[in-house]
Order: sequence, then structure tokens, then C-alpha cells
Amino acid sequence: MDYPAVIGWTADEAVWILDQTLLPDREEHRELDSVDAVAEAIRRLRVRGAPLIGVAAAMGMTLALRDCATRAEALVALEAADQQLRSARPTAVNLGWALDRIRRCLDRELGDVPSLRQVVRSQADQIREDEQANCEKIGVAGLPLLPEGAGVMTICNAGALATGGLGTATAPIYLAHSEGRRLEAIVPETRPLLQGARLTAWELMRAGISATLIPDGAIASRLAQGDVTCAIVGADRIAANGDVANKIGTLGLALAAWDAKVPLYVAAPRSTFDPHCPTGAEIPIELRDADEVRGFQNTTTAPSEVAVWNPAFDVTPARLITGYIMPEGLLERVE
Ligand code: MRU
Repeated sequence: MDYPAVIGWTADEAVWILDQTLLPDREEHRELDSVDAVAEAIRRLRVRGAPLIGVAAAMGMTLALRDCATRAEALVALEAADQQLRSARPTAVNLGWALDRIRRCLDRELGDVPSLRQVVRSQADQIREDEQANCEKIGVAGLPLLPEGAGVMTICNAGALATGGLGTATAPIYLAHSEGRRLEAIVPETRPLLQGARLTAWELMRAGISATLIPDGAIASRLAQGDVTCAIVGADRIAANGDVANKIGTLGLALAAWDAKVPLYVAAPRSTFDPHCPTGAEIPIELRDADEVRGFQNTTTAPSEVAVWNPAFDVTPARLITGYIMPEGLLERVE
């Protein structure tokens, strides 16, 4: 399967990422050699998508140990790095989930700085491999939803760029395509940062998958047209009652899909489920900078002083969701 490499280790044990803010114009790797640089990359969405920010944070924890001479120094540096990375973005629970996994391994490691480093690195690699394997399993579980000739709508980018594997929402699409099924991905542009246009359209076209880009405002009319077999979206956090936080616009898509009787599926690994969050109302929603809405890159698109509300995510209530595509299988909701 042809999907882009998004993260890895450099020769001198720093972290490299594909800088997603530059896509689709430039495909450039950026070296991150400090915890500050990893936190900045997560905040600025150079590296993004719920599973991938967990992977990046886990890998970034190794960088906290770079200048540590003693175990005591290392433990202080790791604690500070954990706090800094955990707070880089608030909505995706995968970030804290990955850091908790690192923390549990460290609690069992009583050795010196090299041993601590080895434990963090191997756990970070394990998290990355697990998320890649989860994507494959999600693809298999979701494959029956995409018969020959299917039209599938997604939103934002829940693809390879968001996971390091086949993606979550895109995994069934990649697998159906690799089996030779003809299908059409309908990709809303996803204002204000255009993850649909810049990232999903780019990665699907790169893989030879047919994609149609639509303005966000066309989501409802396209769903009403009758040629969309299903919608598959990703998630940043799934509450215990099944409510889903995902990219802003998902709620609108869900309401329109409900009205048009188009089934809506949420694809996500276990790391996205938050049993400690009872309902969507308790999910923290990230509010981002006003300037992301007043313009794009160096172009102004609104008066510079206009008031702005810029939530990065919204919450779709469980009642609008047909099912969850998980590595363990397809879970359909029953009322
Ligand atoms: O702000 P972003 O680009 O990180 O938002 C990403 C999304 O909303 C994705 O749909 C979600 O993280 C799932 S990625 C498999």
C-alpha cells in the first residue's frame, strides 16, 4: 500500500517528522531535537491527528534525556517533558494515553540514564507499531462498508498523515482500493486549516484513489444527492457513552447524514476511547487562534479586528452514529 512516511528517528537519535503545514506544496522533513521542538510541532500542527500526536509525544520523551548525567536529573527532566507534551493539545486523548504508557514503563525501570532512555525508546517504538497494526485491523473491519462503486465521505484527515499507518477513516478506503474496488472518496476541504484539501486529497491521490474535493458548505447537499454510500470519520476522543469529539464540522456532517439516511461510522483505535469521560460534554475542546480564521498563510480573508470563534473540534452525539470501526471489529449501535 502506498502511503507517506510521517515520523522516524534521525541518525543521531532525534525525531524527524514530515512537516504537514507545508503540504501539499512541499514534502519536507523537519528534525526535532528537543522536547520544546516536539511540543511546538504538535501545537502548530506540523505533526497532527490523534494517534500520531501520541506517537510523537512518546518519541519526544527520549529527547528529555539528552543532557542528563544522573538518574535523579533524568527523572526530573522526564516529569517536566511529560507535563509539557501532555498539555500541547487538549482534545485528543491519545496524547495522554501514549504518555501514560511511557510513564508505566518508567515506573518499572530502576536503572541509569541509558537504561531509562532505552525503555522510553522501545516503548515509543511499540506504540508506533501498535497504532500501525490497529490501522490495518480497522481497515479489515470497515472493508464490508465499501462495496464496488461506493461513495465515501470523510472529513479532515484521518489518514496515514494522522496515524503513521493506513489511517483510521481511510484504512477501509486504502484496502478496498488495493482489492481493485472502484470507489470515490468525497473530501470536504475542512476550514480553517484545510486538512481535507491539503492532506486527505493529497494522500489519496498519491495512492491513486479517486477523490472529489468539496467546500465544507457543500457537505449537506452532497449527502442529500443520494450517491454517498456511507460517511467514515476519525475521532480525537470517544466518551464512555459513545459521543465523539472530532474535527469541527463533523457534527454538521453527522446531522446532514442523519437527515439523508446516510450511515455514519467513526473509525478509531482503543487509544481514542476515554472511559474516564462519561459523555461528550466533559471532553475539553481546543480553541485555536483567531488569525487561523481571519486569513490563511499570508493571505488576509477577513477584517483584522473581527471577533472570531475558532473551536478545533466539535462533539457528535452517539445517537447520530451508526457504528464504530475498531481494530476489534465493527460495532453497530443498537438503540
Ligand atoms: O486538528 P487536527 O488536524 O489534529 O484534527 C485531526 C482530526 O480531527 C482527526 O479526524 C482525528 O484526529 C482522527 S486522526 C486518525
